[in-house]
Amino acid sequence: MKTEVAKDRPIVTLKLATSLDARIATVTGASQWITGPESRAEVHRMRSTHDAVLTGIGTVLADDPELTARLDPPPARQPWRVVLDRDGRLPTKSKLVQTTDKAGLIWCTGGPVPSENLAELSGVKHHRVDQSKAGTVGLDLQYVLRMLTNTYHIGTLMVETGPTLATAFLRAGLVDHIAWFRAPLLLGGDGRPVFESLNVHDLSEAWVLKQTDHKQFGRDVLDCFDLSPT
Ligand SMILES: NC(=O)c1ccc[n+]([C@@H]2O[C@H](COP(=O)([O-])OP(=O)(O)OC[C@H]3O[C@@H](n4cnc5c(N)ncnc54)[C@H](OP(=O)(O)O)[C@@H]3O)[C@@H](O)[C@H]2O)c1
Repeated sequence: MKTEVAKDRPIVTLKLATSLDARIATVTGASQWITGPESRAEVHRMRSTHDAVLTGIGTVLADDPELTARLDPPPARQPWRVVLDRDGRLPTKSKLVQTTDKAGLIWCTGGPVPSENLAELSGVKHHRVDQSKAGTVGLDLQYVLRMLTNTYHIGTLMVETGPTLATAFLRAGLVDHIAWFRAPLLLGGDGRPVFESLNVHDLSEAWVLKQTDHKQFGRDVLDCFDLSPT
């Protein structure tokens, strides 16, 4: 559990959009759209208030998101987009790569970029992440966040990922706020849960959140939380 906000990394807000029973997809993987248009409009507004929006390669391959703030009128500046992709699987035809004229894209991998893709990725900022402290899954999140602050002066980061990376951020103690949109839908226990294991064996080990806001967006609710220090 987080104990303090470090100064050498961005403030991290984890955005979640789920059914009422905390599922992000049905048993068949259908996920678009669980929340309604009013919630999605609010997500665009939230993106515009952050320096960067981060996602995982799992979400890129599943949804091909653009991760820009699409508002009318458009925001004064777009957030950076950041994708974590240890094995360098980011498709050159993905919306993220194809829209670098609209908003910057920072691509973090664990190895070099395949040379045949270099021309098509010319608008992308590539970072090879030092893997010496990484776990068995994915990239070293502490390293990535420090790099975002030190190299790009990113002070606020919105994390919009699937369960794998959302859980990794939480377990690494790198989440300061949660913005949780919930639609009044029940998808059942065979739907995909919003988190993977949080390693809670006893109720005394449960993650304790402090609620800071509650709003309605169309039929959905948005609940905002701070993570309490231990
Ligand atoms: N409802 C929502 O709020 C929401 C938001 C976004 C996505 N989604 C849904 O989530 C699903 C995709 O979720 P997902 O869990 O498969 O993918 P994900 O969490 O978006 O990305 C997971 C991938 O990120 C990479 N990664 C890099 N560093 C990591 C680290 N330190 N820890 C963990 N992973 C790291 C790993 O791939 P490598 O090892 O290859 O790098 C990992 O497989 C889709 O169905 C999408 O629609 C829902």
